[in-house]
Parts: sequence; structure tokens; C-alpha cells
Amino acid sequence: MFPVHRPRRLRRNETIRRMVRETSLSVSDFIYPLFAVYGKDVRKEVSSMPGCFQESVDELVKNAKEIRSLGVPAVMLFGIPEHKDEVGSGAYDDNGIVQTAVRALKDAVPDLYVITDVCLCEYTSHGHCGVIEKGDVANDPTLELLAREAVSHAKAGADMVAPSDMMDGRIEAIRLALDDEGFPDIPVMSYAAKYASAFYGPFREAAESTPQFGDRRSYQMDPANRREALKEVALDIEEGADIVMVKPAMTYLDIISDVRDSFDVPVAAYNVSGEYSLVKAAARLGWIDEQRMMLEVLTSIKRAGADLILTYFAKDAAKVLSSIGL
Ligand code: PBG
Repeated sequence: MFPVHRPRRLRRNETIRRMVRETSLSVSDFIYPLFAVYGKDVRKEVSSMPGCFQESVDELVKNAKEIRSLGVPAVMLFGIPEHKDEVGSGAYDDNGIVQTAVRALKDAVPDLYVITDVCLCEYTSHGHCGVIEKGDVANDPTLELLAREAVSHAKAGADMVAPSDMMDGRIEAIRLALDDEGFPDIPVMSYAAKYASAFYGPFREAAESTPQFGDRRSYQMDPANRREALKEVALDIEEGADIVMVKPAMTYLDIISDVRDSFDVPVAAYNVSGEYSLVKAAARLGWIDEQRMMLEVLTSIKRAGADLILTYFAKDAAKVLSSIGL
């Protein structure tokens, strides 16, 4: 072997390193999450997520223009309603916060691809992702509400819907409802392998969706399970999911890789709030190089097999990639 084989030959300078690089990030990989709130001129920074804001629709529109001009193709929209109730009525109100924001975004920046998060947790008074019966989230009664929410988003002009609730059977329920209501061309991106993760902490501040009792472990997956992810993904594809997502990303790269190897549909990964906050916090303390760490994290997610990355770094990363000519 040695000295014939010297792998360092192909690492001698940046030109050759770039030529043999196996994975490259592109701005078209990114989907940027946004948080819509009622009001005007509201741009409130999420304290645990520096650089991320709860924004009123007028501010979202400004942000959307910037996002598009940076080349980021898509956003994932979350909404914070004015009132919450037991059954999350704000989620499927045709004049709800997400519906209003979708209309404004599609009107102002038509070529920005708008994906909506379909879930009840931001809209329920108890903060769970479905309706409560006997102290737990009741699966089947929740399906109809999720389907109504997805249809309502499609009516408002959403380009794609993304159910994140983890109820069994929701992809089929949503697909059938969209088809019935005249939206056969609206794709469904399913949060297929979504784990019950501590990394969602900062998001719950942003979306005001912390469960008021218990936790989400009766519907989100156990972080210890790997094979089960393939089952969840297979079911969602059978039910009609067009894109499947693994969430979180950084601590679930094995799952992204398994899903990539086992299925042919596009795979998305959600680089979640806690993963973002960790990097931002350490950077603030001066402990790490934020830019390099951000690119390394995103590259690792892509290398594991993700085609698309939902990330709060989308704008920052777009700026860096364009500055290095990518
Ligand atoms: C709603 C939802 C959550 C996230 C996306 N959709 C939170 C949760 O399940 O509690 C988390 C996103 C993030 O942490 O960035 N069900």
C-alpha cells in the first residue's frame, strides 16, 4: 500500500479538494422556517434562537422578499393564533394566522414556495398535537381536524402541506381530503420519522406550543428506535407522502442514511431549533467558529442522504455560499 497510496495527494490545495468533494451544499437545498403572529410591525426575536423572529404578516412579507433574493427557494410557515382552545380551532379557520400569511406571501412573492406546517399544538389550549380524550391525545378524532387544516392551507394558496403531528393515518386522511376538495396537485411532505426530542425546546418558545401537561411521547418516536423509523416512513409513503422527513437531524444522521438507502422518494431533514441554538450559544461565548460549524452541520446532513434541509441557518448559509461562489 504505502507509499503507492497517499490519500493526502488529493487534499493538497482547495482547488483539488473542491474537485473531488463528494457532497456539496446548495442554496436550493434549504427551507427556512417562519413564525407568523397577529398584529402590525411586530418583529420579536425569539430569545433562545438569535436571528429568528415572531413576525406579523407585514414583516413576514419583507422578510420573504429578502429570503427569495438570497436564493432560498422555500419557507415553512408556523402560526401563533390569538386564541387557543381545546380543539385548536385557529388551525382550520380560513381566516387564521397561517391562512392570512400564506395569502400575503403568495401575493407579494409568488415564486417563493410556501409550505405550511399542519399541526394543532400551536392552537390548542393544552399544547398537544391533537384533541384530548381521557388524558391522552385521541388519534382518530384528530385526523379530521388535521385534514381540515391542510385543506384550509391549500385554499389559502399553500404550495405544499407538511403534517408534523405524528398521528397514525394522517397522511392518508390529508391526501384524501385534498383530493376531494380539488387539490390533487398539492404535495404532502410528511414529518415521517419525528422523534420525541429535547432539541425542540427553543421552538416551543417561538411557537408558544409547550404541552401544558405530560409530554409528546405517546405520539412522537422514542429516540432509541432505529428500525421503527423505516416502518413509519414506509407507512407514510404508502399513504401518499411525496417527501418524507427525518427530525431532528444532527443526532439522527443514521436514520437519514437508512431512509435514503431504503426509499426512492426525496428525503428532507429538519435541523431543529435546539441544534441551531447550540451553535449560536457557543458562538456567542466565543467557543466555536460559527460559520465553519454551521457549514459542517449542514454538510453532514446532506452527506447522510438528505435532499432538503429545513434550517434556521438558511439565510446565513445562503450568504456564505454565495460569498464563496456556490
Ligand atoms: C409541531 C412542531 C414542532 C417542531 C416542528 N413542528 C415541535 C414539537 O413537536 O414539539 C419543532 C421544530 C424545531 O424544534 O425547530 N408539532
